[in-house]
Amino acid sequence: MSFSQFASPISSSSSAFYGSSNLNTRTERKMSTLGRSSRICKCVATPSEKTAYTTNVTRNANMAKLQAGYLFPEIARRRTAHMQKYPDAKVISLGIGDTTEPIPEVITSAMAMKATALSTLEGYSGYGAEQGEKRLRTAIASTYYHDLGIDESDIFVSDGAKCDISRLQFLFGSNVKIAVQDPSYPVYVDTGVIMGQTGLYQKDVEKYGNIQYMRCTPENGFFPDLSTVSRADVIFFCSPNNPTGSAATREQLTELVQFAKDNGSIIVYDSAYAMFISDDSPRSIFEIPGAKEVAIETSSFSKYAGFTGVRLGWTVVPKELLFSDGFPVAKDFNRIVCTCFNGASNIAQAGALACLSPEGFKAMQDMISFYKENAHIIMDTFTSLGFDVFGGKNAPYAWVHFPGRSSWEVFAEILEKSHLVTTPGSGFGPAGDGFIRVSAFCHRGNVLEASKRLKELYK
Ligand SMILES: Cc1ncc(COP(=O)(O)O)c(C=O)c1O
Repeated sequence: MSFSQFASPISSSSSAFYGSSNLNTRTERKMSTLGRSSRICKCVATPSEKTAYTTNVTRNANMAKLQAGYLFPEIARRRTAHMQKYPDAKVISLGIGDTTEPIPEVITSAMAMKATALSTLEGYSGYGAEQGEKRLRTAIASTYYHDLGIDESDIFVSDGAKCDISRLQFLFGSNVKIAVQDPSYPVYVDTGVIMGQTGLYQKDVEKYGNIQYMRCTPENGFFPDLSTVSRADVIFFCSPNNPTGSAATREQLTELVQFAKDNGSIIVYDSAYAMFISDDSPRSIFEIPGAKEVAIETSSFSKYAGFTGVRLGWTVVPKELLFSDGFPVAKDFNRIVCTCFNGASNIAQAGALACLSPEGFKAMQDMISFYKENAHIIMDTFTSLGFDVFGGKNAPYAWVHFPGRSSWEVFAEILEKSHLVTTPGSGFGPAGDGFIRVSAFCHRGNVLEASKRLKELYK
């Protein structure tokens, strides 16, 4: 049989099927049947995975819309490939944004005590309240929302802000339109895609259909021009923002709350970095009058106390927040939490209570100050090299501008030449292209070494 007998060309990627020894039995059978009935032989290369058993379950079409891997696993993959290429290189990560410093002892000792107590008849407890222990909810309300009209019953303790964002998406369902800051933490967009809120990914504009991307760049001070933003049901807003490190001012948040009110929207305010704020920017959306009628706030001990592995966060859903039919949003969220979650780990909750003791709170502040010093070193490094650098002051992230270059190209250059892992800005949205995010979550020695290597690279 010659190639000219094939009715349609086979792409070069199918070349392995040209050799007869590579034809599997299904293909051979098809060809011999066709050979008997017709002179035209259509060779269909059966993908090798087809030989594996498949179920009859159709893949969720929304999952198929998602682009490549989630950003951070993709970075981890590239880091691993780099380490295989340069096994002796000391790779330093300024990338994913995971904390590096040990949890203060005042906090771990409370968790250890709780763990030990679980081995005793008196100290054992099983499932707790899905919403979290009352003592912890009260402590969160009085520590972070004192005088803001938020009480213990508005607070839902969780296993972290990321999980709460997913549960909130579950709450809203697939028939809402969301708006996000561009750039922003990828979880808002990706959970929206998974829920079926969006259209397909549009490669030319690097956006999903049916999402409002609110551009945040140096030109607008990283706060969107709301006059150009059309109505969305749910507005995800993160301040201080990951990745730009920029914190919205009181005036800007007042404008955002008014915008939500005018449009009847709900703001999901992510304050996971609020304790990093150094200036008088609000730490909570509920500092803005009227916010309780339009906002939910989610937060976490992950970046305050090194709880990225311990897992403990919370979400505030005020009683004043109502759906269009007058039904309280908190009641539905409570139903979601009770159905999908069995409460945060009791050991983690003991740790969170210790975080909010006077010694624990001071220890968290010290830890945050340490990371902020790292951020200053990173900011100084890039500034001294002539780059425009944003963030850093109110957040553990520096947002560095490389005008005219692609983020992945800069990421690759810094990894290849300096063995430093950063995060490409375009992974957070199209407006992030041309930037890289540099994380201050790092041991001090590594930050100093990274600074030295960057000065060598860009001198
Ligand atoms: C803005 C933002 N929100 C939420 C999270 C996740 O927090 P948690 O560890 O509590 O799930 C992160 C983690 O990087 C984040 O950057």
